[in-house]
Amino acid sequence: MNSLENSSNWIDRDSQVVWHGFTQMGSYGENNPVIAARGEGRYIFDTHGNKYLDAISSMWVITIGHAVDELNRALIDQAGKISHATMLGNGCDRTIELAEILAELVPMDSPRFLFASDGASAVEQAIKIAFQYWKNLSIGGHESFVALRGAYHGDTLGAMSVGDDGFYSGIFAPLRFPTVHCSDLYEMADYVLANSDSLAGAIIEPLVQAASGVLLNDALGVMSLASACKKTGVPLIVDEIATGFGRTGSMFASQEAGIRPDIMCLGKALTGGYLPMSATVVSEEIAQAFIGPDLSNKTLYHGHTFGGNALASALAIEHLKLLDTLDVLANVKERSIQLYDSLEVMSRQRPIVAQVRSRGLFGGIELDCDLAGDSLLARKVCAKAVEYGVMLRSIGPTVTTVPILTSTPEEIDRIVWTIGECIDQLSS
Ligand SMILES: Cc1ncc(COP(=O)(O)O)c(C=O)c1O
Repeated sequence: MNSLENSSNWIDRDSQVVWHGFTQMGSYGENNPVIAARGEGRYIFDTHGNKYLDAISSMWVITIGHAVDELNRALIDQAGKISHATMLGNGCDRTIELAEILAELVPMDSPRFLFASDGASAVEQAIKIAFQYWKNLSIGGHESFVALRGAYHGDTLGAMSVGDDGFYSGIFAPLRFPTVHCSDLYEMADYVLANSDSLAGAIIEPLVQAASGVLLNDALGVMSLASACKKTGVPLIVDEIATGFGRTGSMFASQEAGIRPDIMCLGKALTGGYLPMSATVVSEEIAQAFIGPDLSNKTLYHGHTFGGNALASALAIEHLKLLDTLDVLANVKERSIQLYDSLEVMSRQRPIVAQVRSRGLFGGIELDCDLAGDSLLARKVCAKAVEYGVMLRSIGPTVTTVPILTSTPEEIDRIVWTIGECIDQLSS
């Protein structure tokens, strides 16, 4: 058990000056926040030396681990050359190299990469590119988007518009543009076939809707949507911000689903969790629609200041090398089966678990809060797990674990055991 009292001073200081995302600051200190001071491999150490297994990969970005020697070296080497050079109308050798490497990996032909920093920015770029694509072709209509129920694409206004209604977006309804949300991928495919004249694009998170509590969708559904998009010419935007870079056991979930998107959004794990970097990837066909005279209205007038940052590019290159040399995907495949099996066993013994959902190294344990008579149960389970040295995160009634891709069998066992133990303690 970790001793938490020592952390309280930092939490007080934190509450005085910092506003945490997705966090009710009035009760911030009550949920055992971990104040990180350093990281090592799959562990985080707080300001008083308590050690925690990072079972959420610091919001799904850490792949190899914290403070990885090779990544540290890549960062320092690049800092000795140049840390940032603008990509607006100029270039940077490291960023070009990264794009060349990524071009070989993404399931798209002759892709082009527009770099940004956060995932939501990559989604905004995708929305604007799909919208302007039709304008550049001088084809009218094509101004709306179709998405999936339960979709989460980020917190900026455009990303929230294609995202589903939810506790985080409902209040902003007057600021969001209207988007149709279908209940499943087959309905979405039918919608595309029937409404292609009005659609600028269709957007999905393939196979796993992680931020909605690890909701799963099947590869056949993804394929059927992709084929409707291909047939009608409606660009398919695949948001792989959460699923990309090995999380589901393939480099990209699109490959697992057997599709080739028109636009992809990448982010989170791109730099192995070191620096914010995202990218909107577009097919040759879409990129060509933006070619025209200098300063003409065919230009995409959009760019983020730090997009394609040199330090982030150097890290991403080294990170992609490590994924390969350490054969990380093989580990993900093995640990995924273990996670799936052990969550099943854990849930069978506990009626309070309404459902478990897992794919790759995403796990969602939905609790029956009505049965427990406690709508905050999942939240409390995660706070309790901190006392056992395990960092989890709740999303509504669901406890989620998103282990680091290099996790060992013992660590997966420990995560699942801790979840079971904390559920028992809080629901008995
Ligand atoms: C599928 C998906 N898209 C977009 C985002 C937004 O990314 P960011 O938080 O980096 O803006 C997320 C974040 O969880 C996500 O899961």
